[in-house]
Amino acid sequence: MNLVPMAEILNDAHKKGYAVGGFNINNLEFLQGIVWAAEELNSPLILQASEGAIRYMGMDYVAGMVDAAVKNTSIPVALHLDHGSSFEKVMQCIRNGFSSVMIDASKLTFAENIELTKKVVEAAHSVGVSIEAELGTIGGTEDDHKVEGKDAMYTDPEQAKEFVDATGVDALAVAIGTAHGVYKGEPELDFERLDTIKKLIDMPVVLHGASGISAADLKKGVELGVNKVNVNTDFQQVFTAKIKELFADDSDLYDPRKYCGPGRDAIKEKVKEKIMILGSSDRA
Ligand code: 13P
Repeated sequence: MNLVPMAEILNDAHKKGYAVGGFNINNLEFLQGIVWAAEELNSPLILQASEGAIRYMGMDYVAGMVDAAVKNTSIPVALHLDHGSSFEKVMQCIRNGFSSVMIDASKLTFAENIELTKKVVEAAHSVGVSIEAELGTIGGTEDDHKVEGKDAMYTDPEQAKEFVDATGVDALAVAIGTAHGVYKGEPELDFERLDTIKKLIDMPVVLHGASGISAADLKKGVELGVNKVNVNTDFQQVFTAKIKELFADDSDLYDPRKYCGPGRDAIKEKVKEKIMILGSSDRA
């Protein structure tokens, strides 16, 4: 695989004030839709897979499919583990060629989060792999990763500064009011907190749970220093909606290419929309 470390992509975004999509893959159609959209708009790309998605596809298939995609494109692509839950899981991904990993120790105490993240940073950096960590807890559900609304906790700016200084991470995911999955009400983002955090840490900041966030709010987040925006649910929804629509028109459909293909096109269009909002087109 000829992947680039995520830090290379995000440091440029941080310097120039734009954001790159951390787009989740769940199957071949997601991968192709996402890569083809980024190619068309000449955008750098962070492909990411959750532990659940890796279990579903199989590690060899994830690595093999992404390898095929990367060999056929000239845009810079990073392959990132989304919400790595342990040192062991992170190491498995590094061994399989991922160029970036997230260690999500946000459920641990502050001191334990620092300790585990530091250990992962040392191991990953020694082989040129980038690291994202999370401070504060982002609510919602993504595969095995569930945080009840009452347990979600906003990132404390002073702690964020202490955390990045102590760990040496390449990017920090912050909790400012977004949540994974489908929003029940209108999400309200704490932009003041984001602004304070960014000014204090002065490095790439990651926004999780970006599906269902308005274009205006995403743009404001990017203006205030978000450099990686994670999207999964929006793509799952457009893929499934397209397939449902096709079956509603023709319940005798049986050839998967006739519904997965249009599903893939729907993902591609949605990815293009996100890339335009984030400002990463023509940055490849
Ligand atoms: P959504 O599924 O809400 O877009 O969140 C994706 C995400 O944050 C992955 O880490």
